[in-house]
Amino acid sequence: MLMLLNIAACRGAMLHFHESCSADERWRDAPPPSYAAAGAIMPSLEWKRLLRLLVLAAVCLGAQTHGHASGHPRHDTAGNFAFRERALRDTAPGRRNETQALQRFALPPPTYQGSRSFAQLLKRRRSVRNFAATPLTLAQIGQLLWAAQGITTSGKLRTAPSAGALYPLELYVVAGHVEGLPAGLYHYDTYGHILVLVASGDRRRALASAAVQQMWVAEAPVIVVFGAVRARTSARYGGRADRFVHIETGHAAENLFLQAEDMNLGTVVVGSFDDGAVARVLQLADGVAPLLLMPVGARR
Ligand SMILES: Cc1cc2nc3c(=O)[nH]c(=O)nc-3n(C[C@H](O)[C@H](O)[C@H](O)COP(=O)(O)O)c2cc1C
Repeated sequence: MLMLLNIAACRGAMLHFHESCSADERWRDAPPPSYAAAGAIMPSLEWKRLLRLLVLAAVCLGAQTHGHASGHPRHDTAGNFAFRERALRDTAPGRRNETQALQRFALPPPTYQGSRSFAQLLKRRRSVRNFAATPLTLAQIGQLLWAAQGITTSGKLRTAPSAGALYPLELYVVAGHVEGLPAGLYHYDTYGHILVLVASGDRRRALASAAVQQMWVAEAPVIVVFGAVRARTSARYGGRADRFVHIETGHAAENLFLQAEDMNLGTVVVGSFDDGAVARVLQLADGVAPLLLMPVGARR
């Protein structure tokens, strides 16, 4: 009932939102506009103004109460951040087994120097499926992961945009040939910029098999896997969550792609795989879906 009131109120208050809210709030909170219908039923301008003020007050009251009562995000920036922190904490796969001592590998901080212009990177970017037997370094892996999902501000915003800054993506590294990193399956802890060991052993061939037998995938020294916790986004955006999560995966993957290009490494986006098989190889927790694989290595 409260939601219905909110929706009706939001529709009536659209014009006021344009005057009284920041652009970001407007985008997040306003349903699709329906100005024609709202205007047609009100005979006089004064009545329209009065109605808008009333519904604006109802929106503010409703949003506050709804946010508290249902656990949905509050519509102010501080509340949004609190919701995000809680959602990330509750669903972060790396933290699901906190009693177990997890082996962590600190990644060197990213560098901000590039070897080429941005336009040159775009021009050069090409899918690579043949990898040399050269190992990657921890610094290279750190730089690639940072490009995809690294933190860039003290407010914990990241390199890639995210609807509502809810950050549904989780990155995993299937490592087989990295200097200073035992072969294994790792989860990228974005906030700490560290790799957390999930399971030991080289899983590259198992992952390549799960990728409909694209066995060349196993020749890359590492495979970065993009997973997503859809619930983080659907809690706020409902049915649009799938669309948003897929868009975000594309943003992050292109960041990694261009970063690899800048470092003279080759990569490719692999989207053809058996979801269940990949989830088993990666020991993904319930609620984490695999979306993309990116084998990375020196070009052969
Ligand atoms: C969503 C998506 C899924 C893809 N899946 C695969 C794949 O499973 N195997 C593969 O070899 N390439 C895959 N590719 C890479 C495309 O084949 C490649 O981008 C295309 O041939 C254009 O080449 P370019 O990336 O060098 O421009 C995929 C690309 C995208 C965007």
